[in-house]
Formats: sequence, structure tokens, C-alpha cells
Amino acid sequence: MANEKRVLLEYADQIDPRKAEDYIKVGGYKGLEKARSMNRRDLIEEVKKSGLRGRGGAGFNAGMKWSFVPQYADTKYVVCNFDEGEPGTYKDRIICEKNAQALLEGMAICATAIDSKQGYIYCRGEYPFMVKLLNDAVQSAKASGALGDFDIEIRMGAGAYVCGEETALIESIEGHRGEPRFKPPFPGVSGLWSQPTVVNNVETFACLPYILTNGADWFAGIGAASYPGTKVITLTGDIENPTYFEVPTDYLLRDVIYKLGGGIKDGKKFKAVQVGGTSGAFIPEQNLDTPIDFDSMAAIGASLGSGAVLVLDESRDIVDVVTRISKFFEHESCGKCNPCREGTWRCREIMERINAGKACPEDIEKLTVLSRVMKNAALCGLGQAAPIPIDSTLKYFKQEYSCKLITL
Ligand code: NAI
Repeated sequence: MANEKRVLLEYADQIDPRKAEDYIKVGGYKGLEKARSMNRRDLIEEVKKSGLRGRGGAGFNAGMKWSFVPQYADTKYVVCNFDEGEPGTYKDRIICEKNAQALLEGMAICATAIDSKQGYIYCRGEYPFMVKLLNDAVQSAKASGALGDFDIEIRMGAGAYVCGEETALIESIEGHRGEPRFKPPFPGVSGLWSQPTVVNNVETFACLPYILTNGADWFAGIGAASYPGTKVITLTGDIENPTYFEVPTDYLLRDVIYKLGGGIKDGKKFKAVQVGGTSGAFIPEQNLDTPIDFDSMAAIGASLGSGAVLVLDESRDIVDVVTRISKFFEHESCGKCNPCREGTWRCREIMERINAGKACPEDIEKLTVLSRVMKNAALCGLGQAAPIPIDSTLKYFKQEYSCKLITL
């Protein structure tokens, strides 16, 4: 589609993601070849130089993360986080469905950099059909000889949102209940079975073959300088053209909605857009001219994170939408830490009262304090991010709350 810049998805629907030979025909596994010809330090430097930052949501510099892995350790692991659990998020599924071999190649490039022989792909529990595709893709890549002595196993989650958090994911692969660990130590130093482990998102790994093939400078020159490359986004909600796209990271949010998305459905007016999935911020009309890169989004209190863009038209009841979201977080909290276990419960309870017209202005103050405590004290990203939808709507759509409150 016009306006897109396709790198990861350039050959979408033209190659079979399961077949290494299809991928090789369009230049696949050249990046890995190059990586293997470099010394490990230079390889990590090349990835650092490209400016590639984590595409799972946190935007951490990928090469920097790899550089934390101690070289003296005998066993090191490469883990791919394919547990995209945000409602409305499916960009990693699209990348695997269209270009799974790029993910495998990216993992093997990382394995070359940190000297690992074993990788795992942790697949979202709601994607059982992807396990077969990925197993076929690994088998084909191994048969072609492309992966060398690097092995990749597919592990499947059981539908817990918290298992997308890297340390809960590691616990789950180890066969334990999926609960986050305290950090530090970060997985780069002590991860899977206490060994140094690089955990990156599907999209992050899938960028690597193109960085190695075309060079770090080429990648660094695409999109926003502080968050270079492309971003795969999924557009849902009240939009004419709800589908996926790949765009450079300096693309404007307004253009995502109006140029790619074709505008608001049924000729209605725009009300809000939630970016980054259910844990993301709601953005009003006045902030739509913001590029989607990490730092520009952070400047307006948002993060594109999981790549989900949910558009709401003028008829949507923001308080009702946020109440539903608060139920999701209460349900998905693993219960390990108090701020999240109690906080998500209280947020849901207060939101339900506001939504039912049974709350008073003091409840809004309680929500604000609760949100601050959760952001500062919750053990992992789940509890820290759960109040973001509440905070952002209280900031930009306060009127929608005010008109539901009881005032004496
Ligand atoms: P984080 O900022 O704590 O860590 C990001 C990465 O950098 C991790 O791999 C961590 O190990 C590493 N890291 C950070 N500081 C480090 C240090 N000092 N030393 C060594 N390594 C370090 O963020 P986290 O909790 O991993 O992820 C939160 C993000 O996840 C949120 O921003 C959200 O956007 C995203 N998210 C994505 C979802 C999806 O479906 N894709 C679902 C829910 C959240």
C-alpha cells in the first residue's frame, strides 16, 4: 500500500514462511552469513550502531542488551518473546505468518553474537496454529543447513497476559507458574535456568537480517533518528480500513488513522485513539500530529509498544471503555505483589462505580493516588501500566468522568 515502507513484510504473501528455500530466494540468510564472518564484538557494535530498539514496547537498545551478556558463561540462551497479549495486538503474528524465517535468522544472528547454541520461541497461548507453522519453519531452516548448530524450540503459553513479561515468561519456560522475578539481576546476566539470556521481541529479531545485509547505516537512516527502522502496526476499532501496516518510525499518528486507515468509519467524528494496546494511553485529537517513534510518543505520555492502534469514534463512552479495561487488568494480575493485586481490584471497583453513576469527586482523587502508587511500586510492567488508560483519560477526557459523578 502507498505510504508504507515494507522491510520485514516486503515479500508478504509471495513466499511461504515455512520454507527456508523461499526465503533464501529473496536474499534470506545472507545477514546470518555476514554475522558469522564478523567477530562477536564487531557484530554487537554493528547492531548498536544501527540504533535498533526493542519492538516489544520498552524500546531498550538491542545491541546494548546483548553486550550485557558475560562472554565467560558456558551456556547462554536466546529467547523470543512471542507472547503478544495486548488485546488488539497482532503484529508479531503477522510477522511470523508472512516472514517467519526472518525471525529465525534474527535469533541465529543474536546467537552468533552471544555465542549461544539454544533458542526458544515462547508463543502466545491463543495462537496454537502458529506453533505448527513455527515448527515447520524451524525444521525447514535446519534442513537447509542455514541455522548450523543453533537449535530453536517452540514453547507455548497458556493464555496468561503476565507471561509476556520477560521474567514471568522465563519462569513459564522453566515449567513454573508464570510470575515475574525481581530485577536485577536482568536476564542478560541471569535468565533461563539462571544462565545469561537475551530476551527480545519477534519484531526486534526480525529486523536483524536486514540490518546485517544492508548495513547499520542503512537502518539508522530509516525513520526517526532516535528510534530508527520501520514499525509494524495493527489498526483496529472505528476505522474504515482495519488491518496491519509497516511504516517508517517517523510516520505521523494522524496519517496512520487517515491515510492508511481511511479515516473514521461511517463518516463519524474522531474521539480518541489508544496506542500500544490495552495498557496504552488514550490520545486526543490535538496530539495526533505526533510521530509514532518511541521518544515522540513518550513526550505525550504514550508508547506505541505492541503496535496496536485502537480508534474510537465520537459515539464511544470513554469511561465505559476504561472500565472494561480495568476488568481485564484485575483478571490478568498474577497476584504476586500487593500494589498490582489490590490496585487492579480497587481500580476496577472505583471505575465500575463511576461508570454506574454512583461515585463522587473524591473517588477520582482516590484513583489518582492509587495510580501513582501502582506505577511506583508494582513489581512488573503489568501493575505499572494498568493505570495508564485511567490517567490518560482523566487528563484528556475528564469531562466524560465529571458528567457521571454524583455532586452534592
Ligand atoms: P523494561 O524497561 O524493564 O526492560 C526492557 C528490556 O531491557 C528488558 O529486556 C530488560 O531486561 C532490559 N533492561 C532494562 N534495564 C536494564 C539494565 N539496567 N540492565 C540490563 N538489562 C536491562 O521493560 P519491560 O518490563 O521488559 O517491558 C515493558 C514494556 O512492555 C512496556 O513498555 C509495554 O509497552 C510492553 N508491553 C508489551 C506487550 C505486548 O503485547 N507486546 C504487553 C504488555 C506490555
